[in-house]
Formats: sequence, C-alpha cells, structure tokens
Amino acid sequence: MFLFNLPEDVLLLVLSYLDNRSLCRLSQACRRSYQFISRDAVWRRIAKGIINTGLTRQGIDLCPSISLKDRVRVSHNWSRGLCRTEVLLKWKINLLPWIQLDCDVLYLSQAANISAYHLRAQGGKLQNNRVALFTGHQEDVCRFILTDTHLISAGGDGKIIVHDRGSEYSIAYNGHKQEVNCIDSKGDVIVSGSRDRTAKIWTLTSDRLGECLHTIPTYDRVWSVAISPSLCNFVTGTACCENFAPLRIWDTERCHLVSCLGTEFRRGAGVLDIVYESPFQLLTCGYDTFIRYWDLRVCTRKCVMEWEEPHDSALYCIKTDKNHMIASGSSYYGVVRLWDKRQTRCLQMFQLAPTTSSPIYSLCFNTTHLYAAVASVLYSLNFRTVK
Ligand SMILES: *[C@@H]1O[C@H](CO)[C@@H](O)[C@H](O)[C@H]1NC(C)=O
Ligand SMILES: *[C@@H]1O[C@H](CO)[C@@H](O)[C@H](O)[C@H]1NC(C)=O
Ligand SMILES: *[C@@H]1O[C@H](CO)[C@@H](O)[C@H](O)[C@H]1NC(C)=O
Ligand SMILES: *[C@@H]1O[C@H](CO)[C@@H](O)[C@H](O)[C@H]1NC(C)=O
Repeated sequence: MFLFNLPEDVLLLVLSYLDNRSLCRLSQACRRSYQFISRDAVWRRIAKGIINTGLTRQGIDLCPSISLKDRVRVSHNWSRGLCRTEVLLKWKINLLPWIQLDCDVLYLSQAANISAYHLRAQGGKLQNNRVALFTGHQEDVCRFILTDTHLISAGGDGKIIVHDRGSEYSIAYNGHKQEVNCIDSKGDVIVSGSRDRTAKIWTLTSDRLGECLHTIPTYDRVWSVAISPSLCNFVTGTACCENFAPLRIWDTERCHLVSCLGTEFRRGAGVLDIVYESPFQLLTCGYDTFIRYWDLRVCTRKCVMEWEEPHDSALYCIKTDKNHMIASGSSYYGVVRLWDKRQTRCLQMFQLAPTTSSPIYSLCFNTTHLYAAVASVLYSLNFRTVK
C-alpha cells in the first residue's frame, strides 16, 4: 500500500489523525499496515486519553512489556465495567486485610501474618500458591509497604518489622505505644503513624534500623501517612476528632509543619488513605465520603477536584493509574468504584459482597486485573477475560 512507503515520521503523523476504529480497519489492509499499526508509537496518543493503559499523565509507560494496542482494547472493558469476578481466597474469621501487588505476586495480610501468593494468569484459587510467609507480630498487621528491597509491616502490637525480601532476615522494633495504623517508606525513609497520636520518622539504612530519627506529636490519632515522591515532605491523615486539620504536610528533615490541607472538615472526617501522583498532586479519602484531589502548586486551602461516594459511605482505600482513573473501596457491601477524573459521576461500580456489610479494606490493580479484599474474602476482577 502506497501509504506505508512514506517515511516513518510522516506516517506516524498521518496516523495520529485517525481514531481507534479507523486504525483497526487500516491495520487489516495488509501485513505491512498490520505490523506498523501494532507499534506502541501509533497508540500513544489514544492510550493517554483513556483510562488505565499504564501510561501516566507525564507519558511514562508503567507496563512496557505489553503492547499499547492490546492495552487500549482492555481499557474499553474497564470503561464499560466488563470483567470476570472470581473469589481467589476465603477465610473463616473477619479480619482487616491489606494487599499489595508486585508483578504476579500478591501480598496479603491475614491477622498477624503476611503471605505472598503467586497469581496465575488464568486465575484460580490461591490456597496452594503461597510462595512466602512473613511473621513476627503478636497482634494483627494493620498495614505494610513493599519497597524494592524490603517489606515493612506495622502491627496492632505497636511493632514495626523490617523484612529483607531477598533473604530470611528481619528485624522487629517497638515503634509506638499503641497500634501502628499506617506506614510508608521511600528511599531511605520510613514514616509510621499511630493511635498514640504521634508520627515517627525512621531510617532504612541497614546499620541504623530501628533508630527513631524524629517523633512528631500530631495530637490526634494517625490513620494514614504518605511520603512525597520528592522525599522532602510527608502527609499525615488523622482522625479529625480534635481541633486539628486532618491533613497536614510535614518537612521530612526538620519535622516542622509545612501546611494544612483544606479548611472545612467536619468533626470525625478522618482520612483513611492518601496517595501521591507526583510531588505536588495527591488524592485522599476517608470518613467524610469524598475523594479529594489536591494540587499543592495551585492551593492548599481548597482541593482542585472532588468526587462524592453516592451511597454516603466512608471510603477506606484508593488507588490511581496516575492518569485518568481512580479506584475506590467503600465501607459497605464490598463496593468498588471506578472513577474517570474528567467526570463527576462514578464510571463503574462493582458490588462484591452484597450480603455482608464488609468494607473494601484494600485494593490494587494493574492494566488487566483489579484485586480487592473484604473482611473474609479476596476477589479478583479480570478485565481481559470476560464472561
Ligand atoms: C474505540 O473507542 C470507542 C470509544 O472511544 C470504543 O467504544 C470502541 O470499542 C473502540 N474500538 C476499538 C476497536 O478499540
Ligand atoms: C496483572 O496481574 C496479573 C496477576 O498478577 C497478571 O497475570 C497479569 O499479567 C498482569 N497484567 C499486566 C498487564 O501486567
Ligand atoms: C502465622 O504463621 C505461623 C507460622 O506458619 C502459624 O503458626 C500461625 O498459625 C499463623 N497465624 C495466623 C493467624 O495465620
Ligand atoms: C473485553 O470484553 C469482551 C467481552 O465483552 C471480551 O470478548 C474481550 O476479550 C475483552 N477484551 C480484551 C482485550 O480482553
């Protein structure tokens, strides 16, 4: 075909005027067109404009091993809510599970232990797929965080345990006087937050593990923490039961208060989850049923966007694709919602546990799957294979 004899950059420019449907038709014209149109470069603009394709707003590709063309196709199933829901694991007592995904290994906290399970592409029960077990807490694990080198867990026993992921080595230390509700780690820094109304800064440097660098009195129970990608600051989300703003940003080095976010929080509007998208942009959610998007360059007194959970229930957890999509977990009936940031209404809703009143305690996703944990079940939503 004449078109495909054009120089590559001209061809790319021509193709950039086509929408996905025309591209798909053209790709069927001949082998050469099929091959050229399978290239990621052809799909980048389209992929950036739709949800959860693994391209961030800055254009970074988080998932380069899978072709963008395929990810664009799966993205339409996310938009339409087409997926296959499966129970991956069930247990007998109600817990507050927390999950994290690392490639095809899912880490799940169940009571005092954290298990790592190998996920199979075709799905199926996880019972026999355990590949690692992390123990050491006397009470339930509240949260944990995976870094490239470590798994760091925070427990109801006040302990913080740093497990080396490459060996059996772990070190446990007394972090707080009461439950350690939340923990984050980036670079060499660990930040923990507790019911004891303090946040603490620790180092991950191997010869100083367990050494508390700073203790910050927050005068209110700390439910969530997140360290900025720039490492300079971190945010605490607190219970909002005292007269302190529930979202406060602190300087990691000097530990002074940098700023408070928002002004009009109701009493009890505690913040349960915080995620950074960039050093300036973050998402928060909690008991007041709103997801809020903050841009620190624009304003700290008001968020730049907000979305309200339509059933007026608290939001326990959020995740973002770092571009247009947010997934949130609500406090009743295992409701997971997908949001497109460009719309005020929720895009899709999945009621995973209609007969129990369990919250979604934790969720995570990649471009093809979403995993969500309620009190006694771990679910998988597969958007690539639909039934
Ligand atoms: C192209 O995009 C539209 C909406 O943007 C979607 O409905 C359609 O399924 C897409 N087609 C293909 C082949 O991806
Ligand atoms: C998402 O995770 C599942 C399970 O780990 C895996 O089978 C799948 O290949 C992953 N998808 C992508 C696009 O990485
Ligand atoms: C945690 O793991 C240990 C060691 O395998 C096991 O004995 C214990 O029963 C587990 N506890 C829970 C609550 O699963
Ligand atoms: C999207 O869903 C359809 C069913 O509606 C399914 O046939 C298709 O395989 C899914 N698309 C992808 C790319 O997985």
